[in-house]
Parts: sequence; C-alpha cells; structure tokens
Amino acid sequence: MSTIELEKQISGPAPGLESHRKPASLSGKILIGVTGGIAVGLSIVCYPFVAPALRRHCLPFVPATPKQICNVLSFVKPSNGGSRLLDIGSGDGRIVIAAAQAQPSIKADGVELNPWLVYYSRLAALRNGVLNRTSFFRKDLWKFSLAPYDHIVIFGVEQMMDDLEKKILKEAAPGTTVIACRFPFPTMQTENRIEEGVDSVWVYRPVPKLTSKTDTPTDA
Ligand SMILES: C[S@@+](CC[C@H](N)C(=O)[O-])C[C@H]1O[C@@H](n2cnc3c(N)ncnc32)[C@H](O)[C@@H]1O
Repeated sequence: MSTIELEKQISGPAPGLESHRKPASLSGKILIGVTGGIAVGLSIVCYPFVAPALRRHCLPFVPATPKQICNVLSFVKPSNGGSRLLDIGSGDGRIVIAAAQAQPSIKADGVELNPWLVYYSRLAALRNGVLNRTSFFRKDLWKFSLAPYDHIVIFGVEQMMDDLEKKILKEAAPGTTVIACRFPFPTMQTENRIEEGVDSVWVYRPVPKLTSKTDTPTDA
C-alpha cells in the first residue's frame, strides 16, 4: 500500500460510520448562510467604530453633551464675511449642525474617519435644514488641512493634544479661534475658558506660521 493510500485510510471515517452521515438539510444550509451573513454584516458595520482604537491616537466616538455644545457655541462669533468652522473628528455631526443652526452666516464642516457617522451626519444635516451650509469629509484628521478655518473645534483625547497643537501651529491661519473640549492643549496660551468638569472648554488664538485663508480643504 502506498503512503497516500495509507493516509486516506487513516483520515477517512471509521468503518460503519459512513452510512450514518446525513447531508445538511436545505433549512440547515439557509440557517448557516443567514447567520454567516449577519456576522459579516455586523463586522462591516462595527469595524469603523473599533478601528480608531488601532491607530496611534486612540480617539473613540464619544458624543458631546448638550452643555458642552452650548459652551463651544458661546465662543463661536459671526464675522462679516461669513466664517468657517471645522469640527475635528465630527462624530455624528452634532457640533457642526448646532453651529450652522445657531449662526446663519456660518459654513460648518466636519472631518470624520467613520463612514457610517459621516452618512448619519449628512442625513442629520438634511433633517435639520442645514445641509447647504455643512460638509462632512470622510478623511483622516491628521491629513486634513486646517488652513481655511476661522473656528476649529476639537473634542479629542489627552494623548493627542500635543501632536494636534503642533499641527494647529503649523497650519491654522492667523486669527483662528481654537476651541478644545474636555482636554486642554499642553502649551498654547489660553485666551478664555469655561471650567465645568467634563463639559469644560478652553479657547485659544494660536499664533501660527503665515498661511493663506483661501486654501480649500484637501485630503492632502
Ligand atoms: C470624541 S468623538 C467627538 C465627536 C464629536 N466631535 C462630538 O463632539 O460629538 C471623536 C471622533 O473622532 C473620530 N476619529 C477618530 N480618529 C480619527 C481620525 N484619525 N480622523 C478623523 N476622525 C477620527 C472618531 O470616529 C469619533 O467620532
């Protein structure tokens, strides 16, 4: 007997058991297909919510509280030419939408990595009547230009504030107001603040290198 034949004999079913094996019924196959499909679907939906944890700066989706939004908006001032606001890591779009609703002259953008949250934000903007004054970009915040904005809002995590401060100082235009929620920047000088525990906000007017305000957002 050859080695292959011997292997087949060893790995094959025990004699007498073969006849008891029944092929899977149609309903069994459907059940396997449906549960498999549900598992794949759930993984596709959930992955973007888990993915931030795998990045250098773990920034999960934690929505701003109504009080936090109110505190942020108290520092968003209208300007004659119409100002532009960016929420960095815009989540479900609540800050962007609230800003556009509060100030008819404002154009508010959000940059967000999670595609489901971006779709949700656009739908929410439509429902709230501010779709034409809001934009949601599905991009990585670290590769998104901050140059065109008059107001930049960040509700981040403590570990990212050092690197974000460097990015702001490099890219933000002169006169930009930066509003940080819950976690302050490490070295920028605070211009104003509301200290209310988890709803605290800090306001900065960084003195960055000169950049052009007419730049448009890119995925650079
Ligand atoms: C703390 S939540 C803030 C949500 C929103 N700004 C708010 O205040 O309700 C941070 C958001 O940043 C997003 N995020 C994480 N890493 C990102 C990245 N590299 N680029 C863009 N968005 C990111 C997360 O998906 C999450 O929605």
